[in-house]
Amino acid sequence: MNTRLERITEESLALGAELIKSGELVAFPTETVYGLGADALNGQAVKKIFAAKGRPGDNPLIVHVASKEQMMSLGYWNDNAEKVFNAFMPGPITMVLKRKMVPDEVTAGLDSVGLRYPEHPDAQRFISLAGPIAAPSANISGKPSPTSAQHVFDDFNGKIPLVLDGGECGVGVESTVISLVEAPILLRPGGVTLEQLVRVLPDITVHDAVLANVKLDAAASPGMKYKHYAPIARVVIAKNGEGLYRSALEKGVKVVYYRKQDDVTDARNLFARLRRADEDGLQLVIFEMPNKEGIGLSVANRLLRASAFTVIEKGEVFSLLLGGDTVELQG
Ligand code: TXA
Ligand code: MG
Repeated sequence: MNTRLERITEESLALGAELIKSGELVAFPTETVYGLGADALNGQAVKKIFAAKGRPGDNPLIVHVASKEQMMSLGYWNDNAEKVFNAFMPGPITMVLKRKMVPDEVTAGLDSVGLRYPEHPDAQRFISLAGPIAAPSANISGKPSPTSAQHVFDDFNGKIPLVLDGGECGVGVESTVISLVEAPILLRPGGVTLEQLVRVLPDITVHDAVLANVKLDAAASPGMKYKHYAPIARVVIAKNGEGLYRSALEKGVKVVYYRKQDDVTDARNLFARLRRADEDGLQLVIFEMPNKEGIGLSVANRLLRASAFTVIEKGEVFSLLLGGDTVELQG
């Protein structure tokens, strides 16, 4: 299949909407990351998303809408949904509600559905034309999420007909996912921070899997049990990043070290940095431990997964496996 990479115009949006309506996949920008979209009401089209990404069949998709009415037609509303909608939507947040008329292919058979109303103007225009769109992040399953159209193209060239290019994503990490089916719970930190949520939902709790490597009940938080966001290069979080970096350089390891800047910038750069590691043929990517405040909590959540929960203490010896050899580094 020939994959077209098109800047967003009236024409490319209309083409995209036509493709969606005929059951094809189209990648599009949002303020968080790029999405790989299909008609949310067409189960056969939605199946193509799982095939193209290599996504496990038990991991449900988010449905993207462009109005409150559309959202209310897809999930059972409640008081908390109203509060969250008024405070944060449109914006980088997804709320899980009891599902109404959404196909099983979207929800992976769950009785709930994730609903999101993106803030990105091009996303809104696209959804308005194409109807509700089921879309995960537009990356091959397990790889870092895409924050540019080129990232999407790198993963899906030859596999989908169209990538709509709306430039780089502003937020850089995915939407916050909360479930409001019962008592409010944070399932995935993202563009809307926990501090912002607590102001609107004072009794919200945080799922254990946000910062820990816990055994998961698939129904509560299906997405968090899979390996995620990982490039080929080994990713680690280091308490003494400078020391580990010097030790790696001395041993001839191809390495990069990222210090913390501010949380917002770190979030925006995160996935592009992970992707660049492979483009540059690096063997080791070291990150300083992020703050867990504001959007820093999302950066920590993604980095813990990308590193398979590898946090290296100061002074700790770290064995890096390179091909058949082990290199001993010191943190
Ligand atoms: O920012 C975003 O959310 C991006 C853009 C494209 O909107 N989308 C995205 O989708 O990150 P995805 O599929 O990569 O992540 C969706 C997460 C997964 O962890 C999934 O398990 C969870 O949301 N999710 C979706 N529906 C759910 C449901 N009914 N119950 C619990 N979790 C759900
Ligand atoms: Mg994803």
